[in-house]
Amino acid sequence: MRRPIVIANWKMNKTVSEALQFVEECRKGLKEVSLDSVDVILSPPFTALKAVSDTIGRSDNLYLAAQNLFWEEKGAYTGEVSAAMLSDCGCKYVIIGHSERRQHFGETDEGINKKIKRALYGNMKPVFCVGETLQQRDDEQTFKVVGSQVEKGIDGLSEEAISSAIIAYEPVWAIGTGRNATPEQAEEVHGFIRSHLRETYGRSVAETVRILYGGSVTPENIRALIKEPDIDGALVGGASLNADSFVRIVVGAINTKH
Ligand code: PGA
Repeated sequence: MRRPIVIANWKMNKTVSEALQFVEECRKGLKEVSLDSVDVILSPPFTALKAVSDTIGRSDNLYLAAQNLFWEEKGAYTGEVSAAMLSDCGCKYVIIGHSERRQHFGETDEGINKKIKRALYGNMKPVFCVGETLQQRDDEQTFKVVGSQVEKGIDGLSEEAISSAIIAYEPVWAIGTGRNATPEQAEEVHGFIRSHLRETYGRSVAETVRILYGGSVTPENIRALIKEPDIDGALVGGASLNADSFVRIVVGAINTKH
């Protein structure tokens, strides 16, 4: 049984004090909830990572993800952040290849592959994002696009490495639009990604890798999405900015998967 994951991707939102206030509210909201069977992960902007890490400590069952990293170990790369720096701030996870980074910052499959390798080498679990645009879906290119993103992103990874990676299927047309993929649409692509992994790495690896859905996830639609057999959790943007709605998503995920 794959352990479900819910990630709050705050993107470029929240100052340190806003982030800490969220953690406080989230903690209250989850007080009565057992997090033994789910991984709940917060992904604040870089500037709030250390403060959030210090406040969640080790006891809350909350974990930290960065939203990006650079693939080089260190050196003259103004503006970039290394795996070691993120690890030092308490990050166990890092989001890589988000469509906003592909779209606005020119990230390529090759660069994403290097970042995934660096994350794994630095003992962080990559949350590797893939997904098609609306045009590509309309042109019936979804499997081709997603298949190619997956293939190039994980190129050269060992079985052991891929087993600790997390893949997030996020159709670009569903991100921040209020228009989520239907559970059937999402499951179809999740199943496709899992069968791709099965062909490349075999059954056991394919059954281990967790595949999350992202794109307009809300407290209202989480249950229907996560009910699907190949959907192991959610990467949540807009609805994760408010502690109450994020808590409801976490509770919905737990109650549905168990
Ligand atoms: P959204 O964002 O939930 O606001 O659609 C999801 C994401 O970009 O990870």
